[in-house]
Amino acid sequence: MPSTQIPNIDRLRALPKAEVHAHLEGCFEPSVLEQWAAQAGVPMPRPRDRLFQFEGLADFLHFLDWACGLASTRDRLAELSYGFSKLLSESGAGYADVIVNPTHWKAWHGRLPDMIASIDAGFTAAEQDGLPPVGLCVSLLRSQSSGAAAELVDALVALRHPRVVALSIDGNEAAAGRTSSRFAEAFRRAGAAGLRRTVHAGESSGPEGVRDAIELLGADRIDHGVRAIEDPGLIELLVDRQIPLGICPTSNLTLGVYPSIENHPIDRLRRAGVAVSINTDDPLLLGASLMGEYALCSKAFSWSEDDLRALARNSIDASFANTDAKASLIQALSNW
Ligand code: ADE
Ligand code: ZN
Repeated sequence: MPSTQIPNIDRLRALPKAEVHAHLEGCFEPSVLEQWAAQAGVPMPRPRDRLFQFEGLADFLHFLDWACGLASTRDRLAELSYGFSKLLSESGAGYADVIVNPTHWKAWHGRLPDMIASIDAGFTAAEQDGLPPVGLCVSLLRSQSSGAAAELVDALVALRHPRVVALSIDGNEAAAGRTSSRFAEAFRRAGAAGLRRTVHAGESSGPEGVRDAIELLGADRIDHGVRAIEDPGLIELLVDRQIPLGICPTSNLTLGVYPSIENHPIDRLRRAGVAVSINTDDPLLLGASLMGEYALCSKAFSWSEDDLRALARNSIDASFANTDAKASLIQALSNW
């Protein structure tokens, strides 16, 4: 095949890759939400055919509270987790880091160990059925206090659950304001306890949010980070330190960060030498599949097979998978 022809979907599925930026909150089927809402006697915010139409990030985050509030039982959490592993496998991913933000899941407030055990049950069952392994990134919300952040880190450190690989922070930076030092101590302690650190920035903040994520929170990885494109000095920093960006093109289009894929900076960041990877963010709610994201970008930017191989390699390197899992994915990639 000529090197810049768009690979077919089977070839993209076969590309060994990892997903490093996806939220369990984004893995609901509309029919499931409709059924759970009916059973709980909770009104739907909109009819099912328009349920996943969002007016930007604030509206989207509000919807997450409604949807996650319906996942009130252990079985429902396990089912959602299992469902995510199936999506991964359908896109040919060999591993994923998945974010879960306890603030959205009302029924589980005050029961973090139970919540993590339920999610773990779903992922363990999936792995036993041959679906890809998953690491859990437990997330703070941008609008939380430093006290709440300390409480979450205390709980994670005490629990030491093998499924949990990272502390994360997500939510709306435009509403919560600049990072300041509010979360610095929580992230420092998480790092000292052996957790990795991943930070949403440069989506609802500009490049200054990405810089804060690195300098104040010690981010090992940035979720989104796309608005780093606006600051050449920051691009240089990302390249020098090889801090990876977990980029989600369809999410950025749907939530209004960029008007079209042609305007999206993923290719410019890649060409500048930033370690970018391709991800779905909230796959079912935003209508993104991992394979679809690879297809969308390779078509828009005429990526060659070598480019795709390098992007998949970035995703594996950026993941918080263990050394063996990474090595076997890298081996598979060399045979693609
Ligand atoms: N939580 C789920 N998806 C998110 C996004 N795209 N940005 C911030 N927080 C999120
Ligand atoms: Zn995200």
